[in-house]
Amino acid sequence: MTRHRRKIIIDTDPGQDDAFALLLALASPEDLEVLGICAVAGNVPLDWTTRNTRIICELAGKPNTKVFAGCAAPLKRKLVTAEHVHGKTGLDGPVMVEPTMDLQDQHAVDFLIETLRREASGSVTLCPLGPLTNIATAFVQAPDIIGRVQEIVLMGGAYFEVGNITPAAEFNIYVDPEAAEIVFKSGVPLVVMPLDVTHKVLTTRARVEAFRALGSQVGRVAAEWADFFERFDMAKYGSEGAPLHDPCVIAYLLQPDLFTGRHINVEIETQSELTLGMTVADWWGVTNRPANALFMGSVNADGFFDLLTERLGRLS
Ligand code: RIB
Ligand code: CA
Repeated sequence: MTRHRRKIIIDTDPGQDDAFALLLALASPEDLEVLGICAVAGNVPLDWTTRNTRIICELAGKPNTKVFAGCAAPLKRKLVTAEHVHGKTGLDGPVMVEPTMDLQDQHAVDFLIETLRREASGSVTLCPLGPLTNIATAFVQAPDIIGRVQEIVLMGGAYFEVGNITPAAEFNIYVDPEAAEIVFKSGVPLVVMPLDVTHKVLTTRARVEAFRALGSQVGRVAAEWADFFERFDMAKYGSEGAPLHDPCVIAYLLQPDLFTGRHINVEIETQSELTLGMTVADWWGVTNRPANALFMGSVNADGFFDLLTERLGRLS
């Protein structure tokens, strides 16, 4: 029986954890057809995220992947970045060589619009791993594509875990809350990987050493990214390792049963400066607001790392 290959477009702001997500996707060609990867400003400015995306594709041995530069700033606000977490380059840790693969001339937003108009309606999944600026801009410029999206599986938001960039908000949503509001109100089926789940997939020492034990360049670089990336969260939360946020999105596509959640209403705070970017998740069903998202609450962490490590092992 031939496996169904899901067509996906990844939107990303690498970021070491984005790198794990991209490697996982590119290591799974029998499951996922990556139509393109769109870089967006987020963890670091756009020039860095477009560079980093190409570095990761080359590391995966996939230099023919189509990479597009997207929006350099949120819809209505000044860009907030996270060098304090990811380092100046966004991929601090191991020294990486500059990419030589092409960056596509087409803007990421135009690629999103053109691809969703060309591919069969309901056949393309969008996988945002950073601020939702590119996706929202495409929806505003071409509302006809909204109904053509199969679903959006994104990393962002928080409920029980509350915020990581402010006391109330998770970074991806906080950077561009207006874009998040457009996406969450779009009517596109949403699967949300919030901090409530990603804070349960921590890069413990044993898990990082399992990356290193792969004995490949990918395994070594992955371990060194984790070694760098974990220092911020360990200092802040006292946790045993760092949360691998973004690969949860790709792991869901590959093994959805690793995750459990609830289909609930989630809305975005865009008015209050105090709670700007908060994902107001009606987890307990106390409102009559219509459910718009499968909001994940738990994950089989060992199963997640088994999948991630096995797939990284496929990349030389
Ligand atoms: O809050 C975590 C999210 O913000 C992750 O996607 C990380 O890469 C940053 O983009
Ligand atoms: Ca990210």
